[in-house]
This record gives sequence, structure tokens and C-alpha cells, in this order.
Amino acid sequence: MMRSIILIAVLFAFVGCQETAQKTPDANTKKPTAVASGAEIYKTKCAMCHGADGNLGIGGAKKLTESQLDLAALKTQIKKGKGTMPPFETQLSAEEIDAVADFVMGLRK
Ligand code: HEC
Repeated sequence: MMRSIILIAVLFAFVGCQETAQKTPDANTKKPTAVASGAEIYKTKCAMCHGADGNLGIGGAKKLTESQLDLAALKTQIKKGKGTMPPFETQLSAEEIDAVADFVMGLRK
């Protein structure tokens, strides 16, 4: 008896999961804001050292407006950090790193 109750509970949990899995793509297409925008990520994770416009340069940081890094190198630096800049690969998802890298590219003149 106990066994079949557990079986039913597991079955319900499984069906519940499948329902949310089916709803997710739909919810995502309707709400693209689920991933924070590059500008928001920059404001919360980067601006304290680099400044709102990329020119603050705390701790010897280069002006992001004058950075020569290409997009791939930029993403690597965000992921791995450098010198006093912390690595962000454990704090940000790949999508968030892409978004903030695009934003930083846009700070250049
Ligand atoms: C704790 C302060 C700090 C934070 C937070 C920080 N950085 Fe940095 N950043 C630095 C420092 C210092 C350097 C210079 C590292 C070096 O070259 O030794 C740097 C360098 C960089 C560079 C390289 C510029 C170049 O051309 O060499 C980029 C790009 C960059 N940061 C982007 C970001 C982004 C994007 C974020 C947020 C996700 C961020 N940083 C968060 C301090 C910080």
C-alpha cells in the first residue's frame, strides 16, 4: 500500500515537471526580460570599478571606452577576471556574460 502511494506521488511530481517544461519556452518568448539586460548587469556588477560610463578606472582598471579587446577576449576576461578584477563565470550565466559583453562593446566611442 505504502509503495503505491509513493509511486503515485512520484508520478504526479513527474507530470508536474513535464507541464512546467512545456510551458517554459512559451513563457520565454513572451518575456525576454527573464535574462537581465547587459546594462542592468553592468550597473550591478561592473560599474563600481569601471564607472557608469566605463571611465572610472578603480584599481588600475583600463577605461572600457578605450579598450582594444575583441569580443572573445572581452568575454574571457569577464569569465576569468584579471589582476584585481574578479572572475564572473560563477556569478553570471553564459547569456548574461554575452549581454554584458555586448553592452561594454557599446561603451566604446
Ligand atoms: C573589483 C573591481 C572590478 C570589477 C567589479 C570589474 N572590473 Fe573589470 N577590471 C578591473 C581591473 C582592475 C582591470 C584591469 C585588470 C588588469 O589589466 O590587470 C579590469 C579590466 C577590465 C577589462 C579589460 C580592459 C582592457 O582593455 O584591458 C574589461 C573589458 C573589463 N574589466 C570589464 C568588466 C566587466 C564587464 C565587469 C562586470 C561584469 C567588470 N569588468 C567588473 C576591475 C574590476
